[in-house]
Amino acid sequence: MEIGSSALLFLLAFTFFFTFGTGQNSNPSPTASSCSDRGNFTAGSAYQANLNTLLSSFSSITANDYGFYNLSVGQTPDQVNAIALCRGDVQPDVCLSCINNATTEITSACPNRKEAAIWYEICMLRYSNRSIVGVLDRSVVVGLVNPSNVTNAESFNGALKNLLVDLMSRASSGGSIRKFATGNVIDPVLQPIYALEQCTPDLSQEDCTTCLETALQEIPRCCGGRRGAQVILTSCFVRFEMERFYQEPTNETTSNSNNNNNTSRIIIAVVVPVASIAIIIVCVYFFLRARKKKEIVESKIRRPSNHF
Ligand SMILES: *[C@@H]1O[C@H](CO)[C@@H](O)[C@H](O)[C@H]1NC(C)=O
Ligand SMILES: *[C@@H]1O[C@H](CO)[C@@H](O)[C@H](O)[C@H]1NC(C)=O
Ligand SMILES: *[C@@H]1O[C@H](CO)[C@@H](O)[C@H](O)[C@H]1NC(C)=O
Ligand SMILES: *[C@@H]1O[C@H](CO)[C@@H](O)[C@H](O)[C@H]1NC(C)=O
Ligand SMILES: *[C@@H]1O[C@H](CO)[C@@H](O)[C@H](O)[C@H]1NC(C)=O
Ligand SMILES: *[C@@H]1O[C@H](CO)[C@@H](O)[C@H](O)[C@H]1NC(C)=O
Repeated sequence: MEIGSSALLFLLAFTFFFTFGTGQNSNPSPTASSCSDRGNFTAGSAYQANLNTLLSSFSSITANDYGFYNLSVGQTPDQVNAIALCRGDVQPDVCLSCINNATTEITSACPNRKEAAIWYEICMLRYSNRSIVGVLDRSVVVGLVNPSNVTNAESFNGALKNLLVDLMSRASSGGSIRKFATGNVIDPVLQPIYALEQCTPDLSQEDCTTCLETALQEIPRCCGGRRGAQVILTSCFVRFEMERFYQEPTNETTSNSNNNNNTSRIIIAVVVPVASIAIIIVCVYFFLRARKKKEIVESKIRRPSNHF
């Protein structure tokens, strides 16, 4: 009985460690990809060579702290143009790591395409044979929903709409290197809402507004009443959740809700390793005790038989 339960505890601790350990090194899968039908290149073409040069050059560029990159390789008609953008709250080194992962994934997601795009949770990458810098493209790539619904949709949607419209004007007025805004509110029945909006910063303020407006119009259609959703357009992005999913800029004066979130993150960071060590210690203790008991039982059985 005791051997059984300690074995179970061991198994739990092992599973816990295994998931915890591997979770950090895995290469996250893309959120979405879009393979354009504007044409294919042939293997061995100049276009393919330019594309390979362009994609591999991301591994040697210097990180900037606003997370937007535009690169071009070759001459028309074989010129390849690329835009890469990280979510505005991502650290420069993590940003480039995400983009570099995207460069390998984009060619396997969209083999031989003259134009393609890929999105991860924290970065995106597009390339094309046409010029794409400063060009608005508001085609809707995908609307992704959290399958759970909010309890009070009417109250939630009202507060959500106000927040999203506010973030739209803040993001689009962000300037030529950063069009990004986050914010949170609590609706009248105390449901929290956290949201994020971003355009590629090469867009004009007007084009960014147009793009985000299109994204916001999409929300009731794809994602009405849900606790969370992401709407990805080629040139902009909107996401909302009931939990905070983005990092606050370190320099900003933090509100109460942010401090609470930081505290809970620190608590998790401390409690999780401590709990794991405690589980291991408990397991080892039960394991040793169980083994000792077994030895005692065995010697008790053996002793009488030795007497005879
Ligand atoms: C490009 O290739 C894909 C897959 O091989 C094919 O489905 C698509 O029709 C092609 N597009 C054009 C414009 O030829
Ligand atoms: C990129 O891929 C590597 C290896 O698969 C992974 O360890 C790393 O976390 C990925 N980077 C990002 C930012 O997702
Ligand atoms: C891009 O490639 C497509 C397909 O080959 C071609 O129709 C189009 O004219 C090219 N665009 C530019 C700007 O070269
Ligand atoms: C959420 O609401 C949608 C639309 O009203 C419904 O189709 C869906 O089943 C609901 N999901 C859950 C998990 O209740
Ligand atoms: C794109 O890159 C070119 C060449 O490096 C640069 O001159 C231009 O300012 C960049 N555009 C944007 C919007 O960052
Ligand atoms: C923090 O942001 C304020 C404006 O919001 C700015 O004046 C200040 O220089 C920034 N400090 C640092 C260390 O970046």
